Amino acid sequence: MSNKQPKTLGEFIIENQAAFPYSSGELSRLINAIRLAAKVVNHEVNKAGLVDIIGQAGGVNIQGEEQQKLDVLANNLFIQTLTNREIVCGIASEEEDHFISINSKNKDYQNNYVVLFDPLDGSSNIDVNVSVGTIFSIYRRITPIGTPVTLADFLQRGRAQVAAGYIIYGTSTMLVYTTGDGVNGFTLNPAIGTFYLSHPQMQFPKNPKIYSINEGHYAYFPEAIKKYLKYCQDSVEGRPYTARYIGSLVSDFHRNLIKGGIFLYPETAQAPKGKLRLLYECNPMALLAEQAGGDATNGKIAILDILPETLHERTPFYCGHKKMMTELHRFLKF
Ligand code: AHG
Ligand code: MN
Ligand code: MN
Repeated sequence: MSNKQPKTLGEFIIENQAAFPYSSGELSRLINAIRLAAKVVNHEVNKAGLVDIIGQAGGVNIQGEEQQKLDVLANNLFIQTLTNREIVCGIASEEEDHFISINSKNKDYQNNYVVLFDPLDGSSNIDVNVSVGTIFSIYRRITPIGTPVTLADFLQRGRAQVAAGYIIYGTSTMLVYTTGDGVNGFTLNPAIGTFYLSHPQMQFPKNPKIYSINEGHYAYFPEAIKKYLKYCQDSVEGRPYTARYIGSLVSDFHRNLIKGGIFLYPETAQAPKGKLRLLYECNPMALLAEQAGGDATNGKIAILDILPETLHERTPFYCGHKKMMTELHRFLKF
């Protein structure tokens, strides 16, 4: 084992700032703020089991505030952290109907970036002690600096993201992100509250084996997907593949990235656009997937090429290892 001191996320951000095309330090400060919010949310998520016990004693916390649902709490924590530090000009969240325009006190709309996020992904897993996550996506605004942001700043193609990533609150807490130059993963040492670079330049591994889909909806899947699932289960040429489905996109994606797999959330007759949200679930994961040598599509075009029409729009989502995506495409063609 090498005794070299691992790099911290803080050090990594500073080192990589210069390599970024617009290296004013603004994006670095923004990632730093996300890092901070992640640590606070991590602390809250870890206490989730205890909240029920405290809740039974009256439903109010120590400051006399009503207990909030964890996804609302995570939402407020991220918004507060980003707003207080005056480093973004706009925020959109799964938990907010409309985008938030931020007029920083000292710098009249002088910030460049907008952030979109899913504050707590897989939140139905909280009660059963299963990993959840936060997903974020960052763009440069397209409207003129010095003016309030508009919806157009948020409705950009995923291809225009300058950074994207997720935090997984799992057996360890990790922050995984890209600024378009590969994917790096950092693991939190909770004792000292520091993220360390544990997974530099993450790439999907050579031999993928996992498919992840909520097969309970099989009856409603498009024929192409039904056929593809049978293909995954055939006993020829390295198959059957292994089925794994957690029900938290972050956790399913993270496992598939490390072990090699594909994630599928198709459209159905009842939900013709599927379930997952393009802007703060699919786009960030698609950028990470492409940066790690994988691929993501809605079945017709690359996720990152979709021009969004609304903030909360959904899309069918197929994402993962290149080899498995190529196999899937053979079925989607017909
Ligand atoms: P969220 O908790 O942010 O609403 O997201 C839940 C999503 C996603 O994490 C997961 O992949 C998907 O819902 C699971 O859906 P099914 O229960 O339909 O499988
Ligand atoms: Mn989600
Ligand atoms: Mn959510």
